[in-house]
Amino acid sequence: MKYGYFDDDRREYVITTPATPLPWINYLGNDGFYGLISNTAGGYDFYRDAKLRRITRFRYNNVPNDIGGRMYYIKDGGCTWSPSFLPAGTELDSYECRHGMGYTVFTGKKNGVNAKLTAFVPLGDACELNRLEITNDSSETKELTIYSCIEWCLWNAVDDANNYQRNLSIGELEVVGSTIYHKTEFRERRDHYAFFTVNADVNGFDTDRDVFLGARRAWDDPIQIENGTSGNTVASGWYPIASHQLKLTLAPGEKKSYVFQLGYVEVPRDRKFESKGVINKAPALALIGKYNTDARVEAAFKALAEYWSDLLGIYHLESGSDKLNRMVNIWHQYQCMVTFNMSRSASYWETGTGRGMGFRDSCQDLLGFMHLVPDRARARIIDIASIQFENGSTYHQYQPLTKRGNADIGGGFNDDPLWLVACTAAYIRETGDATILEHPTPFNNVEGSEKPLMEHLRRSINFIVNNKGPHGLPLIGRADWNDCLNLNCFSEEPGESFQTFGPSEGPVAESVFIAGMFVKYGLEYADLCEHFGSKDEADSVRNEVGKIKKATEEYGWDGEWFLRAYDAYSHKVGSNECEEGKIFIEPQGFCTMAGIGQEKGYGRKALDSVKKWLVNDYGVEILAPCYTTYHVELGEISSYPPGYKENGAIFTHNNPWVSVAATVIGDAEMAFDIYRRSCPAFLEDVSEIHRTEPYVYSQMIAGREAVHYGEAKNSFLTGTAAWAFVDISQAILGVQPTLDGLSVKPCVPAELGDYSVTRRYRGSLYNIRVTREAGRSGLTVNGAPVEGSVIPVPAAGSRVDVVCYI
Ligand code: BGC
Ligand code: NOJ
Repeated sequence: MKYGYFDDDRREYVITTPATPLPWINYLGNDGFYGLISNTAGGYDFYRDAKLRRITRFRYNNVPNDIGGRMYYIKDGGCTWSPSFLPAGTELDSYECRHGMGYTVFTGKKNGVNAKLTAFVPLGDACELNRLEITNDSSETKELTIYSCIEWCLWNAVDDANNYQRNLSIGELEVVGSTIYHKTEFRERRDHYAFFTVNADVNGFDTDRDVFLGARRAWDDPIQIENGTSGNTVASGWYPIASHQLKLTLAPGEKKSYVFQLGYVEVPRDRKFESKGVINKAPALALIGKYNTDARVEAAFKALAEYWSDLLGIYHLESGSDKLNRMVNIWHQYQCMVTFNMSRSASYWETGTGRGMGFRDSCQDLLGFMHLVPDRARARIIDIASIQFENGSTYHQYQPLTKRGNADIGGGFNDDPLWLVACTAAYIRETGDATILEHPTPFNNVEGSEKPLMEHLRRSINFIVNNKGPHGLPLIGRADWNDCLNLNCFSEEPGESFQTFGPSEGPVAESVFIAGMFVKYGLEYADLCEHFGSKDEADSVRNEVGKIKKATEEYGWDGEWFLRAYDAYSHKVGSNECEEGKIFIEPQGFCTMAGIGQEKGYGRKALDSVKKWLVNDYGVEILAPCYTTYHVELGEISSYPPGYKENGAIFTHNNPWVSVAATVIGDAEMAFDIYRRSCPAFLEDVSEIHRTEPYVYSQMIAGREAVHYGEAKNSFLTGTAAWAFVDISQAILGVQPTLDGLSVKPCVPAELGDYSVTRRYRGSLYNIRVTREAGRSGLTVNGAPVEGSVIPVPAAGSRVDVVCYI
């Protein structure tokens, strides 16, 4: 069953009912100011950091769970309704929500009135625009009253939800004309404020929530709306909001449009006030002036669309499959942008109050992002590397506002350093910009500790070399990619964090997964040395890679598949000898990608075992059989009920690893089959089972042993976004950047037919046609056959016509 449809021409998903199984959401914002918006307009805005600069309030665990956000009410006689269904909750005559690239448009109709609400963040500015267009489609004159409302968050979202003894006394506002300024804490140490305005004279306003709602009332039924009044209140403390009241008369066929703007500004500390207690409004007025007419808003909306057209023109596929085209050309890349911006901080599943940017998460997000905006990717790589410690290990997370490592979680996740190598190498393959390797980059943000980025990569590699266990395999530390495989934790008390409890430097527990990573990324590092550094270093790294490869073949192979790990007692994890958790997906994917045991056919065997044990209708499960009891020696993984999360769900992030691995052993059918199974557009028809958005990946889909098999959770912010795009665009469709130029080497099943890809790469435009012609193979470039699969980089500005015969 479906709750909407894809409109590919407009790059939108059109939701046709507010009663989706869960809020289906979208993100507004490009670089700094962000909003989350559900298909009933619920959500919140923040500036850079969802914890420290929260602009609007949102209550996770609320009922309904997306109430609150941009709230608009239309009062038409005795009937009050919202164009996005909530907050009024009045049944609409028709409803539509279009989630597009950085914008969402609602159209609601009731009793002959048509209301269209367009929400987006204009490029380069810190504000959300809500354009409300109201048309009288009836044959009678309509006397309408519109109410807007947003609820302010007192900036620090954690404090805002906890510290009421202080909070309920600090709220401060100013109101000038139609603009309501939120200036809580501005009188003391904050140099920023927010405002909510509308480009029309208002008939009234409210900023005191209790006055607006009335005693014991909720958002669906404010007393002011019932009475048709506003209190013109200026809140002091308690619960500050911003609500406008606008009365309008519309003749039949007449239309009126309003622009509401929620803005954020920062003011120089020495110019904070106009006069005592009166804030400096100059920057706000400038921002308001930029978007106070329909024409200006339309121009900004058009600029946003053009921005996305340009970005999505960098990699464009034309194939016979609509589902594949829409994923590759629109939604994969869009989700990559969102994960790049958000890491795992703010979604409907991540409250924005906990983790900031994850080290490994951000490194992997970059893999699907750097072709889009390479400059931002470059800056991000330097930010991430700057939280690395001198010994090559790293903080696990950092706050986006301060860019400092997060001491609460610390380090000790031993896969982290290698992801830095992965994203840096990928950045150089994309851009050819090896100067990044020379960029002076500090350790742990300590001034004076700067070393070229290359030295950071070297220390990443050396950290693994210097931290091996009894079998010569890398030590796992607190966890590797699988945050829930906590082999050094041994937690017995409820509430202890599996990620931080216990020693991180367990000297015994080893990870076969990190071994696979080391072989893959160690070789990529060696290639960087060879191209841009020293051949001797390349040789010595390859030598270290050889050792770990050998150790993996000797101690990391279980007979039919790769082992997962050795625990703190040196017992096997992920072995046929185990009663539960016999086989894990991660090493099958990664070790096969890395080519470990290739000559002995390990990859083929491992992937056959994946098929036998782990593949289900919706993807590949992370392990089987699931753990049914808590294992203190394994940690969080065994804490989840069977079939959920790391205990046997399809953890979609690692499905592309298996798919890429299949391309490495040349199994095109399996590669595409694995890609397709968990791909959201291919699951749209079972939306009532899947339940999350059919246009983006969710972190997990419950496995066969779960009570709710097939149900997805944690949509939007997942490393799957980047890996799925790498898988389909590079490994399967075969258009892959290398250090020496673009490589075209498809691994596609016959069912896909011929296809073409346009790719902008290092300043040139490649038109690539992939075709099956009996008896022909290889590439022609501008008509001439070339050796191998790599096309040497032409002069920037070239047009390169490539035909690839398969
Ligand atoms: C989740 C993991 C996550 C970890 C750290 C665990 O509860 O299951 O997916 O990586 O927390 O936030
Ligand atoms: C989610 C975390 O964000 C990611 O870092 C981790 O690799 C996966 N969960 C698997 O545990």
